[in-house]
Amino acid sequence: MRTVCLVLLVGLIVPAAARAEDAALVARGEKVYVAQKCSVCHSIAGKGNQKGPLDDVGSRLSAEEIRLWMVDPATMTAKTKAARKPPMKAYANLPKEELDALAAYMQSLKKK
Ligand code: HEC
Repeated sequence: MRTVCLVLLVGLIVPAAARAEDAALVARGEKVYVAQKCSVCHSIAGKGNQKGPLDDVGSRLSAEEIRLWMVDPATMTAKTKAARKPPMKAYANLPKEELDALAAYMQSLKKK
């Protein structure tokens, strides 16, 4: 009985902690998005450049594709035949934590 309770408890606490961590990462990513001025070319929730809405990018692209857009946009531009100018520049020189946070934020943007 005690083992069952423990398993149940861990089952409740671990996912909650993971969600809190995700939320913190997403919030950090939102700050990086603002600091890097991504909204010069993109919009989220109607704010920013309407030509590049990112509102549902988390449902459209995989985590890998989102990361590639940030570190190697030239390849993604060629692959998707994106024609919008100016093309996106690479953010590969951002610290890894900022890239991770930005990617988590992008992935959290899903069609409601
Ligand atoms: C100079 C303009 C410019 C800036 C600044 C820019 N991007 Fe982009 N980005 C583009 C263009 C152009 C595309 C190609 C798709 C399109 O036409 O919207 C693109 C595509 C993307 C995509 C894929 C979108 C999709 O709909 O498939 C993501 C994700 C993305 N950018 C994230 C970012 C993030 C995060 C930043 C800030 C770190 C950023 N971009 C800054 C121009 C820009």
